[in-house]
Amino acid sequence: MDGIEKIALKAVKKSSLPVAREAIRQLSQAKPKKVIGFWNNRDKGIRPELWLDLYTALKESESSELQKLGTEFVQSHPTGIHSLSLHGGNPVAGELVFNNQGACLQCHKVNGEGGLQGPELSLVGDRLNNEKLLESLLYPSAEITPGYGLSSIALTSGSTLAGRLAAEEGDEVLLITPDGKNHQLSRSEIQSISPPVSAMPPMGLTLPPEELRDLIAYLGSRTKAKKPGNKKSSEHGKK
Ligand code: HEC
Repeated sequence: MDGIEKIALKAVKKSSLPVAREAIRQLSQAKPKKVIGFWNNRDKGIRPELWLDLYTALKESESSELQKLGTEFVQSHPTGIHSLSLHGGNPVAGELVFNNQGACLQCHKVNGEGGLQGPELSLVGDRLNNEKLLESLLYPSAEITPGYGLSSIALTSGSTLAGRLAAEEGDEVLLITPDGKNHQLSRSEIQSISPPVSAMPPMGLTLPPEELRDLIAYLGSRTKAKKPGNKKSSEHGKK
């Protein structure tokens, strides 16, 4: 092991995330082949928070050997590089993604601001862990939040209504059509209800993986416990 590798290895193992990330970036330029060892042994002592950075170093390398490793990883993993976004994001940067690039506010409310089409996300970190958050962003229809699925309802009268299946209680079904109208229907008027699908586009597929990582960290930080006084989420506390 020579000097630069030793320093980089130490930084990757022990330094703060920004320093460790910079070490990975520099090593990948100075000694690209050393990144191969880090990548291949990542589950033996390299924090999962850094795996996306190692992957990015492989993909952005000029060496075809490194690029090939990156491609092989994507092909052999069902959630591809997205699984590398589960850990190590920055919630403050993630809030910007939420408000800007992600256009999430168009459909979701946080602290009283935003759209109505999707569920309120102020405390989504209490409901969903990082794996579930990732799933919500990649495969929105995998699990529909109750009250927020899109369905079409065939009525015994012969007509059809489509919209958000907001509530189903006993004999009553509440459907909200895209024009904002509430339709309170009783079961006797209904012939069939189609299985609900999500109105949410798979937003996670269009964001760069670093932004997805920050976004997941932000959503995960939206919890009751972290609201007051927590340094990283202090900016979220506006009401
Ligand atoms: C076009 C509207 C729309 C946009 C844009 C949108 N969503 Fe959604 N989202 C929904 C709807 C509707 C649901 C509920 C149905 C479901 O479970 O997929 C939902 C569900 C979710 C859930 C699961 C919530 C829970 O409590 O189960 C999360 C998390 C989420 N969205 C995050 C996001 C983020 C982050 C963005 C921006 C990158 C985003 N959404 C953009 C409509 C949208």
